[in-house]
Amino acid sequence: MWNKLYHGAAYYPELWNDTVIEQDIQLMKEAGINVARMGEFAWSKMEPHEDEIDLSFFVDVIKRLFENGIETVMCTPTPTPPIWMTDGHPERLFVDGEGKVMSHGSRQHICTNNAYFRKRAAKITEAIAKAVGNLPGVIGWQLDNEFKCHVAECMCGTCKTLWHEWLEEKYGTIENLNDAWGTDIWSEYYHSFDQVPQPVSTPFLHNSSLSTNYRIFSMEKINEFAHEQADIIRKHSKAPITHNSGTFFSVDNEQMFEKLDFASFDTYASQENAFAYLFNCDLWRNLKQGKDYWVMETSTSYAASLESNASPHPNGYLRSEAAAAYALGGAAFCYWLWRQQRAGCEQPHGSVISSWGKPTVGFANVLEVEKMRKELEPFILETKASQAEVAITHSDIGKAFMKTEPLQNMDYRGLFMDFYKRVLSMGIHRDVTQEGTDLSGYKVLMTPFLYYLSDEYIKNATEFVEAGGTWIVGPITGGRTREHTIHTDAALGKLDELAGVETLYTYPIEGTNSVGKAFDKSAPLSLWSSIFEPKGAEVVGVIEEGLSEGKAFLTEYKRGEGKIVMLGSLPTEEAGDELLKTIIDHYAADAGVALRTDVTEGTIVAPREGNGYKLWVIVNMDGKGGSVTLPTNGLDVLTKTELNEGQLSVDPYEYKVIQF
Ligand code: GAL
Ligand code: ZN
Repeated sequence: MWNKLYHGAAYYPELWNDTVIEQDIQLMKEAGINVARMGEFAWSKMEPHEDEIDLSFFVDVIKRLFENGIETVMCTPTPTPPIWMTDGHPERLFVDGEGKVMSHGSRQHICTNNAYFRKRAAKITEAIAKAVGNLPGVIGWQLDNEFKCHVAECMCGTCKTLWHEWLEEKYGTIENLNDAWGTDIWSEYYHSFDQVPQPVSTPFLHNSSLSTNYRIFSMEKINEFAHEQADIIRKHSKAPITHNSGTFFSVDNEQMFEKLDFASFDTYASQENAFAYLFNCDLWRNLKQGKDYWVMETSTSYAASLESNASPHPNGYLRSEAAAAYALGGAAFCYWLWRQQRAGCEQPHGSVISSWGKPTVGFANVLEVEKMRKELEPFILETKASQAEVAITHSDIGKAFMKTEPLQNMDYRGLFMDFYKRVLSMGIHRDVTQEGTDLSGYKVLMTPFLYYLSDEYIKNATEFVEAGGTWIVGPITGGRTREHTIHTDAALGKLDELAGVETLYTYPIEGTNSVGKAFDKSAPLSLWSSIFEPKGAEVVGVIEEGLSEGKAFLTEYKRGEGKIVMLGSLPTEEAGDELLKTIIDHYAADAGVALRTDVTEGTIVAPREGNGYKLWVIVNMDGKGGSVTLPTNGLDVLTKTELNEGQLSVDPYEYKVIQF
């Protein structure tokens, strides 16, 4: 899609005068910034009064940047509607679950389902698309900014009406809804759709079906808004469209990006959480498979706002982050933000240039990124990131289910990240995939922590197994229906039969002194667990102590050419970590996973493919250096040295590009 690697920054020219803008452009050139993202909070600059739209300022800035070799990603400014939108119109504001009405003064304070807002958003979007959509400098679009990062589901009157319409569309008759949700419980029975409440304050919890459905409704609505904007832009511009999303937000990224052109994400992970950063690269690369993703925002050094600040990155880390981004399939590495803001609530935030126009503490690192970018560019452009053999399904719908039913504070992202981290630390190249990802080319599919598996997902995974794949299911996975109720045919619904087991009971095994043993390793078991009795499956892991002594927590069942492995519980503590690694190791080897190295923890290998050759980009992320075994002789293309097979060491924050 692009013929270069981008190195960019979020730019807010609307906050500065012409002299500063001129200085910015010169400094950007010095820093090696070749793309600026603009406009996402500038609605009141673009349309100070209703219907007085003037985009000449941005047209001019985009042209000036372009004349200086800097391209633009243009944004729609809809996260910050001007005061005229809500002044005297409280009904347009966002209302949270406690009934609190948001106010103008920050961002995301409006209800994005409000009809008037939608109308005005469409109008400003169309005006921007017309004004800048065909300027040569505009190489991409970003919709809004981090949808639902500060707010989740809105409970306003508009949303109430839309909710009722949505329910009617989904269930057809109120009887269907009553039946699906089991509303005989606690006299919840409804006679008409407009009686169904929103999940606002109640003395105790709402019905799980209602809560989860409302989350899904909200996610569908924000995607409807995103797609509405994208359609308008496409009428006037050919530049590809993205949204700077994340996995923290209350959105369904899979559905959102299905209709966008490329994936991008924002991240502010610290070096200690480098695995979270890598998780993002592995996820966003696969959200639009075959298309490069963008790191749309990250700090040059530290994030901060009036009420918090992170610690600065150690020198060297930024370059490793950027090298990893490009190596793992990224087309762009961009900062938030270019010039420190002098006002607002994010003045303390790290940037490339200070408010007074001088290099910040992160600046030298930005120069290092640029040097690396130039070095890597020819090799990255000639190759593409390899598909992994191991896919781990990540699901925003699954996240929504767990938000409704967290039990003992289960957090989908945290659990998933911990699981992911283990695979990463084992040197297994991995793709974080979506529920609908095409499974061809994978050898192992892992599906942890999803209460609900759709029929479609089960069908695809079963076909994958029958064709020779290994499907590792669990922990947690499968215990709830689409409506967030309990199955009544078998504990895990269709899964039981498919996997050749009978799930006898599911219960919180933690605190019951239960110990699981598999492959000669034992460990305490944790989380809400499924206890199996084999019905054709082979028992691989047995519960040795506790309430279910002698029963299975790990089974294996051959189906077609492949197998389904049920992991009913999460081994925990240090011994659990060992046991889980042993299980993953066993099934990876068993399935013939070869895209794997012995790279030491803290260093990564990003495999890429060229025309008739392979490339490894090796990056040390922890500043401690590391090593990896080269499987054959290779060529270090940066230093042009021949390397022998065997151990290769990597210096702190070093990056190497090896061709095989
Ligand atoms: C992001 C947001 C930016 C800025 C940044 C600060 O979440 O998109 O606008 O607020 O955080 O770290
Ligand atoms: Zn609303």
